[in-house]
Amino acid sequence: TVLFLVQIPELAKCSVLMRERAKVEEKIQAMQCAGLSRLQVISDFDMTLTRFAHNGIRVPTTHIILNNKLLLSEDCLKKIRELHNTFYPVEIDANMTTEEKLPHMVEWWNNSHKLLIQQKIRKDLLFQAVTESNVMLRDGYKAFFDHLYEQRVPLLVFSAGIGDVLEEVMRQNHVFHPNIHVVSNYMDFDDTGVLQAFEGQLIHTFNKGEVAVSQTAGLKQMQGRPNVLLLGDSLGDLTMADGVAEPQNILTIGFLNDQVEERKKSYVNSFDIVLVEDETMDVPNVILRNILTLRDDK
Ligand code: TMP
Ligand code: MG
Repeated sequence: TVLFLVQIPELAKCSVLMRERAKVEEKIQAMQCAGLSRLQVISDFDMTLTRFAHNGIRVPTTHIILNNKLLLSEDCLKKIRELHNTFYPVEIDANMTTEEKLPHMVEWWNNSHKLLIQQKIRKDLLFQAVTESNVMLRDGYKAFFDHLYEQRVPLLVFSAGIGDVLEEVMRQNHVFHPNIHVVSNYMDFDDTGVLQAFEGQLIHTFNKGEVAVSQTAGLKQMQGRPNVLLLGDSLGDLTMADGVAEPQNILTIGFLNDQVEERKKSYVNSFDIVLVEDETMDVPNVILRNILTLRDDK
């Protein structure tokens, strides 16, 4: 099957940027030829599987979903918001290197988690916090999740957000299928169901590479799958496939949600495909359809 990307209307839109169209085409063809049994998908969660904004209002991250009076005191809500206002601009700063950002990210995550622990969050309230939040998965999410599940392609959700919360978001949207494996920051509750710590190694936006090597490299369901479709919204997400043994083709898609003009150049230089202010899963879906179903036509 010869593929002409220009003929796919979703990829001809001006919000779709590619450094090297021919390379993308080549990778898709190679992945198509190798077949589904050689494919895995690795995706970030916040602002990648979830929308960035809806009707001009920002959609909450998994951390922000917990910013609910049900769970946190007024004082704590305020402090978490202040942390966000201080550190989010650093996270997306186009003029800082990853090395420069690192200590700030560690500080953000540590302070944020410390505050959440102080609030003695109850496990049984997470369901309601998600229900009451305005979190939204990207348009077309259902086709994305269902298609991967039906085709038995494993999906690694790799998030510096909160594992318990993102699982609940997927559950409430009926897409938390058995082909999904999550690597994230999980809450550790005591016997009475009160948050007492976070489990394991802290994951933040810019240490996913290290975490991949230590935590995802050994995952059985991902083994023997050297072709990767990787989705992220941060340059830090590009290291999520660092745990893949002997990778063959890694096709990376980056959602450029914010600070578009400032970051466009570095995103285009770093991801194979950049989606500018695109709140949908249309492009990942069309690429998956090409990799997955064209194979069946042969
Ligand atoms: P991700 O890896 O699934 O994208 O999740 C990480 C995002 O979480 C990152 O973009 C910043 C965000 N975040 C908050 O919104 N509030 C917080 O307190 C922290 C620590 C992170
Ligand atoms: Mg993200």
